Amino acid sequence: MAALDAFQCVATKLDLREFDPKQVPSEVKLKVLEAARTTGSGNNIQHWKFILVQDRENLGKLARDSTSGKWVEGANFAVIVLTTPRFGFHLIDAGRVAQNVQLAAWNYGVASGAFAGMNRAALEKDFKISSDLTASIVVGFGYPLRKIIGRKNRKPIEELVFAERYGEPFDPQQLKT
Ligand SMILES: Cc1cc2nc3c(=O)[nH]c(=O)nc-3n(C[C@H](O)[C@H](O)[C@H](O)COP(=O)(O)O)c2cc1C
Repeated sequence: MAALDAFQCVATKLDLREFDPKQVPSEVKLKVLEAARTTGSGNNIQHWKFILVQDRENLGKLARDSTSGKWVEGANFAVIVLTTPRFGFHLIDAGRVAQNVQLAAWNYGVASGAFAGMNRAALEKDFKISSDLTASIVVGFGYPLRKIIGRKNRKPIEELVFAERYGEPFDPQQLKT
């Protein structure tokens, strides 16, 4: 299993929505679940649960229950991230898990995509989700169908980073060493 430098992993990871039918090895799936488990949560409450979906029929159900993630039908497997909505920060925690599982998979060349648009009632019924939890985000995984080329479409650093106060231009030349 190959591994990437942590920054390279972050910088090159893209959200993919088309996957090769090739099976993802069980060791990589386990790493993905370990990445979910070891993510930090607010006050370390770990108010979450994760549903691993590998069954083709259930991936189809996930796709039908989604409003913006129909592509998950073609994923090799998916993880439904459940969090406890009574904690105000539960969506921050869900986002951290989603990013960690995506990076853990990408570290081994397995691509992924996330979706949050779903018919929650249908999904929670189909996957028998306990009423104290909500499905916050779903991540689908698989090997990329095509070689990944191209760059990320992101705003330039000067537009996003300010120096000391909001609105003050950031100049990389002025970084303290
Ligand atoms: C909170 C969140 C919700 C998202 N919801 C969806 C979604 O419903 N459907 C989808 O296809 N992608 C979804 N995405 C993926 C984003 O569209 C993707 O991260 C963004 O376009 C950047 O993609 P890139 O890294 O490949 O450039 C979601 C991402 C996040 C972080």
